[in-house]
Amino acid sequence: MSDQTTSTTPSTAHDAYPYDREALRATLRGLEQVPGVAKPDPILSVDHMIRRFGGMTAVNVDHLEVQRGAITALIGPNGAGKTTFFNLITGFDQPSNAKRLIGGGDARWTFNGKTLNRTGASQAARSGMVRTFQLTKALSRMTVLENMLIGASNQPGENLFVGLIHPLWKKRERENIERAEELLARFKLDAKKDDMAGDLSGGQKKLLEMARALMSDPPMIMLDEPMAGVNPALTQSLLDHIQALRDEGTTVLFVEHDMHMVRHISDWVVVMAQGEIIAEGLPEEVMTSQAVVDAYLGAHHDKDLGDDDVLDTNMIETIAEQVQEELEEEEEAR
Ligand SMILES: Nc1ncnc2c1ncn2[C@@H]1O[C@H](COP(=O)(O)OP(=O)(O)O)[C@@H](O)[C@H]1O
Ligand SMILES: [Mg+2]
Repeated sequence: MSDQTTSTTPSTAHDAYPYDREALRATLRGLEQVPGVAKPDPILSVDHMIRRFGGMTAVNVDHLEVQRGAITALIGPNGAGKTTFFNLITGFDQPSNAKRLIGGGDARWTFNGKTLNRTGASQAARSGMVRTFQLTKALSRMTVLENMLIGASNQPGENLFVGLIHPLWKKRERENIERAEELLARFKLDAKKDDMAGDLSGGQKKLLEMARALMSDPPMIMLDEPMAGVNPALTQSLLDHIQALRDEGTTVLFVEHDMHMVRHISDWVVVMAQGEIIAEGLPEEVMTSQAVVDAYLGAHHDKDLGDDDVLDTNMIETIAEQVQEELEEEEEAR
């Protein structure tokens, strides 16, 4: 990385990536845009990950590397396997070809130098990979601040349990409370800290989920549809938060249907269809590629189109056209 990195000291404790957006983008531009392409500095690397439900193969990823310090978007039509893939790599679900199984398979993934081929959610989180998880009913009945303190542990599953049955979090050090308050202020939720989490608006709940995931100061955060159900008035602030995280050195991997968001904040886009990675590359190139447009269209061939599906399909075509126009304008301006 070049030495142009700004002098802003990240407030986070993990080793911040010396972030230089131009340098990062230039590096990514130099890569071959094919599924499974090697990245110069992958924080996450996945091999042979298969998940079957009955006779249906939901995920079949041969190889994927996620570049450290970048915002990577994972896109694809409904049912492509994106959420299942997230569940697998964060240990909330097990690959069908997991090693521990009799006649065990060869699924493996490495995060930040640690191999996680047979670990559960708490170990994945301890390694520093966290995903947002939704406010459950129980969490909704706790205050905003209590939700944050639950996120302080690197073991969400275990800690969640402790938090629910025993108010151990009350004994947490001042430090955790301070960090929680800092994050709440950053997400403009500080005035709500004593409110029940369930009383927040949809967008504020998303912000709380993100803030809570950041309590353990993870090197990588995974967001599954952060924009879903968020009031348009809050979407810009959500985008800003995600970019600010990346600027501080946090790697971001997110699933999103909002193609404008994908186009505007991601450094790299990975496309899944029918469980497989069918394309990856720069947002402006991959999103206009025929293979990707076909994947979205193809996903609907054999069934009636629901409103959401139509929206999806129209959206990707519209964006493909818009991106093409923007590129042509930029070309002319030169
Ligand atoms: N627990 C499950 N049991 C059975 N089928 C599942 C389960 N979870 C997901 N699937 C199926 O796996 C496929 C991929 O789903 P999902 O990962 O949710 O896709 P996406 O997030 O890309 O929309 C879908 O066909 C879905 O119906
Ligand atoms: Mg999903």
